[in-house]
Amino acid sequence: MLQERVGQATVTVHVTVNGVPRPVTTVPNRTALELLREDLALTGAKEGCGTGDCGACTIVVDGRPVNGCLLLAPMLDGKTVLTVEGVARGGKLHPVQQAMVEMGGLQCGFCTPGFVVTAVNYLEQHPNPTEDEIRVAIAGNLCRCTGYSKIVDALLEAAKRMREGEGR
Ligand code: FES
Ligand code: FES
Repeated sequence: MLQERVGQATVTVHVTVNGVPRPVTTVPNRTALELLREDLALTGAKEGCGTGDCGACTIVVDGRPVNGCLLLAPMLDGKTVLTVEGVARGGKLHPVQQAMVEMGGLQCGFCTPGFVVTAVNYLEQHPNPTEDEIRVAIAGNLCRCTGYSKIVDALLEAAKRMREGEGR
């Protein structure tokens, strides 16, 4: 927490998170993941490895999925961030979330926020993907529970629902 780092220089990061400007004064060596989880209490993105390997911390920055554990918080200045807290609309799950739930695309759920934001961002840019293309798109996200097949099935179904107009 910021109070634990009394005496360190601080920096104000002007970031827009899930469509809302959220200026944050924090310490410059904090990661983007720490800024979201600890400064903004957005705990959807998870810290798995902390070394850029698992994708549990994935957030979308200016339309690209990135590992929040590898990005320093000041690098979010002036950027737009999407986290899993921002994908539902009007109290309804996003088609990606809904299909993941319906088709068994999650078990423990620790990896799920990372998969969801990766997939939402990818499917918005690639509305009619093949199974192989989906597998490549989620290659940076690891899951220890599902075996991936159900996640891929869910994302193919979500793509279909998005083409039919859901999630807008
Ligand atoms: S926690 Fe960031 S990639 Fe694993
Ligand atoms: S559902 Fe447990 S790690 Fe993916």
